[in-house]
Amino acid sequence: MQARSDMIRREGKTIAFVPTMGFLHEGHLSLIKKARQLGDAVVVSIFVNPAQFAPGEDFDSYPRALERDCDLAEKEGTDVIFAPNKEDLYSAVFQTYVSLGELPNHLCGISRPIFFRGVATVVTKLFNIVKPHFAIFGEKDYQQLLVVRQMVQDLNFDINIVGSPIVREPDGLAMSSRNTYLSTEQRTSALSLCKSLKKAQTLLESGTTDAATLINEASDFITSHPETVIDYVAICDPETLEDIKTIDKSALMAIAVKVGVTRLIDNMILKVAGM
Ligand code: PAF
Repeated sequence: MQARSDMIRREGKTIAFVPTMGFLHEGHLSLIKKARQLGDAVVVSIFVNPAQFAPGEDFDSYPRALERDCDLAEKEGTDVIFAPNKEDLYSAVFQTYVSLGELPNHLCGISRPIFFRGVATVVTKLFNIVKPHFAIFGEKDYQQLLVVRQMVQDLNFDINIVGSPIVREPDGLAMSSRNTYLSTEQRTSALSLCKSLKKAQTLLESGTTDAATLINEASDFITSHPETVIDYVAICDPETLEDIKTIDKSALMAIAVKVGVTRLIDNMILKVAGM
């Protein structure tokens, strides 16, 4: 992959990179489309990264469909698919990790304490292997996008990080490879995440600026659906992820809920009228 990237760069072409864990859906395809617009050559990686799963999480059962993914990625105009094995990226003596100070102390980092170390480490490795000019990340993993941006700034990676909006099913459910785990009933419960975000925006527009009130409304709505266990419902600063008490400017509302055994996340930037 490094030799291939060197070759592309020697031809004076730019590389746009979409890192994924595979089981591609419309959300990933929208990232590939964006990559197509940004770079001359598009590289997609497919790698279920063991370093970002804690024991007991779904590393073994994470959905995999390499051939189908390759077809989909190629149809979308991908030039190179990089799909390493676990052993290719993590040798038996692997011992170097990238971890951030502040950003992982919020939202998903609280219940998944090794997650962002795993993400930052593998993304660093992938950047060094793929040598992209641009890397595209989905905004559904909002905190991940912030972590990558911070890491790129802190470690002086010469890479442009580009965020891309959440892609939703027609009924509003945010696309996720993990949606495939949901039964029909659980899928209905899963809709409570995006519905509660929309509801919060509506309440804010009608004058409810108290974050705790919006969080309680959303939490009550979500837990009124079967098989839901809330990990967090938070309203926070979109850059630092520090909690916000009163919403007087744009705020991030972020939600993580277990529906059955499936952990789902969603988020929305709440907008105050006139700002
Ligand atoms: O968002 C993902 O799919 C993963 O966290 C990533 C960025 C590919 C790193 O493994």
